[in-house]
Order: sequence, then structure tokens, then C-alpha cells
Amino acid sequence: MDGFLINGGPRLRGSVRSSGAKNAALPIMAATILCEGETVLHDVPHLADIESMAGLLNRLGVAVTRDADGTMRLRVEDEMNCQAEYDLVRKMRASVCVMGPLLAKRRKALVSMPGGCAIGDRPIDLHLMGMQKLGADVELQAGDVLLRAKRLVGAEMFLGGAFGSTVTGTANVMMAATLSKGRTVIEAAACEPEVTDLADFLNACGARITGAGTPRVVIDGVEGLTGCEHTVIPDRIETGTFMIAAAISNGEVVLENARLEHLLAVVDRLRHVGVNIEKDDGKVVASSSRRLEPITVTTQPFPGFPTDLQAQLMSLLALADGNSIITEKIFPDRFMHVAELSRMGARLHKEGPTVIVEGVKRLIGAPVMASDLRASAALVLAGLIAKGTTRVNRVYHIDRGYEKIEQKLAALGADIQRIRD
Ligand code: UD1
Repeated sequence: MDGFLINGGPRLRGSVRSSGAKNAALPIMAATILCEGETVLHDVPHLADIESMAGLLNRLGVAVTRDADGTMRLRVEDEMNCQAEYDLVRKMRASVCVMGPLLAKRRKALVSMPGGCAIGDRPIDLHLMGMQKLGADVELQAGDVLLRAKRLVGAEMFLGGAFGSTVTGTANVMMAATLSKGRTVIEAAACEPEVTDLADFLNACGARITGAGTPRVVIDGVEGLTGCEHTVIPDRIETGTFMIAAAISNGEVVLENARLEHLLAVVDRLRHVGVNIEKDDGKVVASSSRRLEPITVTTQPFPGFPTDLQAQLMSLLALADGNSIITEKIFPDRFMHVAELSRMGARLHKEGPTVIVEGVKRLIGAPVMASDLRASAALVLAGLIAKGTTRVNRVYHIDRGYEKIEQKLAALGADIQRIRD
């Protein structure tokens, strides 16, 4: 399995472009199941998860082709298969996003229940509740969920759970409701920019969705959707990761294709730490030139601080001048990176969903193990500044979500190379 060898030290300088957002592209790709005719998507990142979704859609009768520049074309050719099998759902939880489109368009969906994963239990009860509200029969069969309906019927529903709103759950119900009879109202909808991007895509295909990006989304069902041409929004988590890379290396990085309005909480917390984030001539520049201050941060649904940047922020705060407090409110078990960062000399004290980060003067390179996507990014960031060499093993996790991360970091001056096993 591939790994990264990183020699810590260089200050990152230069420009880096964020790719299209994986978490926007995945549900949009799934949504093409609803459409008649061709869809053209621009800025689809080259990532393992995107390939998995393309493979799943292929099995579901969708022809998917792509150009080297990130343009993807999708067209439904056969509507017979309605099943997302366990081997695919297990590999990538976002496979569950085909449930809503299959049910709405083909009247049937057989989707494996996703199991737990490295960041904890990840149930889909809210997705299923939403489908039931729209009139689907839901039956559990040997680890698969079978959903059936004649035509779905619009309904009002509260889609919040114990941990707040659900991003892919909101996407799933929104997609299903586009072809329902009548009006659907989702209360406590996820407000993440990826949900808004999906709504923009669906509206361009002929759907009638208002309120996306707010907790109340209204969908008036239509008879059918066409394909359309759409550009995927930039990946805010990748942009945030590069902001932290600039800060941790005391460098200066110009972030191209960055949308600060998608990163308000991240910019706020990073500025409190002492990172400079400026907009200069339409470009966003992140830089830092001094020891950073400790902060308190809690992950929350958008527009709060994203859980997908919690691990990376921990690497930065590990080097701050004092004690920081990080509380994880979305996935309370998402702390696989704590033990690995500790191997590099970070002083981390975990107490339930909270970690107290006692800032140290330096981290020390070590062999470490990537456990999930964002934890891997945190280890790479730590490696950029650690004394000596860090070897991050099992980087296939990072390949699921960051396009060419080692090439982008190397172009900024990082000493990082991929070791192929
Ligand atoms: C999406 C993102 C992921 C991000 C997460 C939170 C994609 C492909 N993935 O994941 O990168 O970390 O949002 O921002 O977009 N929950 C339930 N019942 C459900 C669904 C969720 O209890 O039916 C809980 C989850 O366990 C979690 C919380 O709700 O505690 C939020 O999860 P959710 O927003 O659904 O995450 P995903 O959509 O899976």
C-alpha cells in the first residue's frame, strides 16, 4: 500500500488551486439517475470515491465518461437494476445517495445498510424516515434495505437527529422529492454548501427547489428532469486544509478557486489562532509568521466549524503557545488521529468528545498510520513541520478525498514523496 515520506521544515510558498468538491460531486452524480438525456459536469475531481460512484452508476445503467480536464458526462441507458450492493456501500458510504433517485425514478431501491466506519456509527435512520414520509415501504432484508413505492407523494418532515441535521440524508430526500406528487417541506435540513450545489444542479435540470442552504427546504414535485451542464463548487475542506498547511509551515499560500463564504467559521477560528487570511485582488492568501495562539473550537453543522477539518486543526493547535480545547459534536468518536499525532510528540488529552491540546514547541517525525480520510490529512500536515522524517502509511484513505495532494504540496515547496509498495 502506498505511503508518503515527508521531511519536515520547508515553508510553503506559491499558489494552489482547490479541486471541485467530492462531497458535492458524489450526490450530483447520483442525481443523474433522475434525469433524461445527457448531463455534463465540470470540475469533478479525480479521486477514488468518484471512481467508486462512477462504477456504481455504471452497474445501475448509467454510462459515465470523463475527460482529463475533470469534465464528466453521464447518461442513463438502462433502468433495470435498482441495487447498490454491500461491497460498494462498504467501500464508500456516499453510495447511499443512489437510494432517493432510484426510488423516485425506478420505484424501487435495494441498498445495503452501511456498517460502522473509522469515525464511528453512521446510521441512515433519518434517510429511511424521510423516504417513508414520502410514502415508501421500507423493509430490512439480510443487511439490505428494500424500498418500494408507486409514485412518491410530497410530505412535511423534520429531518434533524440527535447530532443535528444530516447532509447526505437531506440530499437523498431532496432528490426523491423532486419527482414526487405535490409539495415536500424538509425542516432541519442540512445547510451545507454541497446541499445547495445539489439543489442548484437539480433546478437546472427542471426541479423546483427553494430554500436550499437554509434549514427549511421546499420542493415542488415535477413530472420529469432533463440533464444539464453544471460546474461543481470548490472543495472547501481542501481549501481549509491548505490554509492550515500555510499556517503550520509559517508560509504564505495563495488559494485559487476558494470560496471564503463557505469557510466562515474556519477563517474565524484561524484568525483567532493568529493566521492571516486576506482577500487580495480576488485571491485568498493564507500566511503566518509567528507562534500561534491556542483556541477553543467545537465542530457543528454548517455554518459552524466542519468536522471534516477537526483533525487538521488539531495538528496546528498541537504547536500553539498554550492549551486548546477541541470538542467534536458531529461524530463524537472521530479521534483516530489522536494516538498517531501523539506518536509524533503532540500532547493530547482525550475526555469523551473533547480533546485538550497542550501546545508543544515541536513535533518529531515518526512512522504513522492513516486511519481515515481527514485523519490522514492531519498526519501529513504534522509531517510538514515535524523534525526529521515522517512516514504516513496507508495513504489510500487520503486518495479517496484529496486530488494529487502530494503533488500540490510539493509544488508549494514541501519535501514529500509517494512511496509505492
Ligand atoms: C457528510 C459528509 C462527511 C461529513 C459529514 C458531516 C458526504 C459524502 N460526506 O457525511 O464528509 O463529515 O457530512 O458534515 O457528504 N446521522 C444519524 N442518522 C442518519 C444520518 C446521520 O443519526 O440517518 C448522524 C450521524 O451519525 C452524524 C450526524 O448525524 O452524527 C451527521 O451525519 P451526516 O450529516 O448524515 O453525515 P454524512 O452525510 O454521512
